[in-house]
Amino acid sequence: MAHPLEELRDAALHEIESATDAQALEAARVRYLGRNGSISAWGDRMKTLDAEERPVVGRLLNEVRNAVTAAIDQRTEKFRSRQESDSLAKIDISLPGTPHERGSLHPLTQMLDRGIQIFRRMGFALADGPDIETEWHCFDALNTPPDHPARNEQDTFYLPDGRLLRTHTSTVQIRAMQAALPPIRVIAPGAAYRRDEVDATHSAQFHQIEGLYVDENVSIADLKGTLEFFMHELFGADTAVQFRPHYFPFTEPSLEIFVKSKALKRGEQWIEVAGSGMVHPAVFDEVNKVRGDDAYDPDKWTGFAFGLGMR
Ligand code: DAH
Repeated sequence: MAHPLEELRDAALHEIESATDAQALEAARVRYLGRNGSISAWGDRMKTLDAEERPVVGRLLNEVRNAVTAAIDQRTEKFRSRQESDSLAKIDISLPGTPHERGSLHPLTQMLDRGIQIFRRMGFALADGPDIETEWHCFDALNTPPDHPARNEQDTFYLPDGRLLRTHTSTVQIRAMQAALPPIRVIAPGAAYRRDEVDATHSAQFHQIEGLYVDENVSIADLKGTLEFFMHELFGADTAVQFRPHYFPFTEPSLEIFVKSKALKRGEQWIEVAGSGMVHPAVFDEVNKVRGDDAYDPDKWTGFAFGLGMR
């Protein structure tokens, strides 16, 4: 004859198997395994059994408890996965999704891209240099002596190791000449940094497109022709371009470039857009010194350079 515990187990398993929802299942669990459940009651009853019977019934009780617990777990899992597939079935995957607005490129990126495209059509290659620069690349190599006001600590951001955030992209002129023999024709778009108070026309970080063209017989006519063409391409054919004498340590002569264009402030003002000039022989000399050769012999090569402010 079956032990009462075995009968209890069979009844429990039958009930669990025929439970049709989570509630019925929970009711069965409480009834058999809950604190006052009929299987749990056998735990208390153990004390009343005599010594030989106790281990036998104890083992049986364990088996029964395990079997019933496992059956409940199994059934619970079945309900859970059925519920999951039911709720998935309700999702209509043929419905259109939530539309996301499409982003667009930042105006600055658009201007840089357009600028780069124009110079590429004129045969300029892209050059690159780090934003964190040596003082030498930023100043000394560009014929800017230690007592020049641009080197004031208030004018840029110095790192503890003496490097700095470049104040202009002209650093890349030097890096390009260190890396390659003339003739070279490169542009270097990138960020530059100054300790400026932020206002409508100033920012601690701004962008420039640097340019350098070194070859035999490059003249100021090449500079003017190249940059005039560039301004017309970028701002429109009716753009007026002016070259005004200026001073930069690393060019001689130096010119500031102004444009008047309907695309800028309705064409009512001359706007300064770039610095430029003919590469100073002292810059070639300094490059030769670190190269350890005479690759940029100032008697053989000339060049023009420019730095366009893109904000
Ligand atoms: N580096 C200058 C600036 O940031 C701009 C500039 C002037 C760049 C003359 C040049 C140049 O390459 O030849 O103000």
